[in-house]
Amino acid sequence: MTGRRVAIIGAGAVGASAAYALALSGTCHEIILYDIVPDIAIGKAIDIAQATNYSPRGTIVKAAIKPEEIKNCDVVVITAGVPRRKEMTRADLLNINAGIVKEVSENIKKYSPDATILCVSNPLDVMTYVVQKITGWDRHRIVGMSGALDGSRMAYQIYQKTGFGAAQTRAIVIGEHGEHMIPYPEITNVGGIPLTQLLSKEDIEEIVEKTKNGGAEIVKHLKTSAFYAPGRAISAMIESILSDEDKVISSCAILDGEYGYKDVAIGVPCVLGSTGIKKIIELDLDEKTKKKFDEAVKAIKENIAILEDGGFFDK
Ligand code: APR
Repeated sequence: MTGRRVAIIGAGAVGASAAYALALSGTCHEIILYDIVPDIAIGKAIDIAQATNYSPRGTIVKAAIKPEEIKNCDVVVITAGVPRRKEMTRADLLNINAGIVKEVSENIKKYSPDATILCVSNPLDVMTYVVQKITGWDRHRIVGMSGALDGSRMAYQIYQKTGFGAAQTRAIVIGEHGEHMIPYPEITNVGGIPLTQLLSKEDIEEIVEKTKNGGAEIVKHLKTSAFYAPGRAISAMIESILSDEDKVISSCAILDGEYGYKDVAIGVPCVLGSTGIKKIIELDLDEKTKKKFDEAVKAIKENIAILEDGGFFDK
């Protein structure tokens, strides 16, 4: 079996959890872990490879020591970077992670020229934009992981209120993967039933707030950011891409006129299949949500401007 080769750049908590989720599902033929610290990639690759003994289908899991060993991958995930610590906002991470993502993107362009890139490093929307600028690739081959995770966090909060329908909840979150996240209860449903018909306005408002604080809540308890749910969200997106499932998954996409914006990356519902983002679904946003979306675009563009003003894209 050829194809279905996935590389994960950054074998830290999120990268390894994504590899583990993929290895358990048997989605890939081969998973390659790379990390700037080779022992991390080697150790985790061995551990996850040994876990595949009980997987439904065989998956080869190995480590790459040099970037040039990551050749001809179908999907490359970027989780390299510095995780957000309690005292940091996502924007604090901007400069360090942009440099890392740039270096990684240049290597992907060189060694896996036909890949779809799944960006996970934070601040997510800006990093997804950076990947597209650095590679210069068709925007549909660059996708960011945001709504897949935020939606699963919203679904969790909904279950805390309803006590039923956990696996049947389709929660939609768009906007920035950060402070300007937009959980969208009006188009969220549990088993096809609109959330607005199941819960009170107050309960829904609480769900929205808790969803927005989903990452911070985990940091508060663990003193480090989340990894299991991000890992599973990454694997769900890769499953849709590699199996050409055309699932609708909220993802960070580079807009070129959709929602009235260009030259920005932001979370919107996307159809994910073999060529990456096959379609961006343009929701008819109500006035209140449109205002939030505009604010999210503004915040992301401000961060992009910080990089531009520092000459990041000229170097
Ligand atoms: N190339 C490859 N790997 C790198 C590089 C680089 N240039 N720079 C750092 N790394 C590696 C680190 O050695 C580390 O193992 O990236 C890994 C990051 O892992 P963690 O520190 O465990 O962070 P994690 O929680 O996995 O988060 C990774 O995903 O969700 C986002 O905000 C999060 O940006 C962060 C990223």
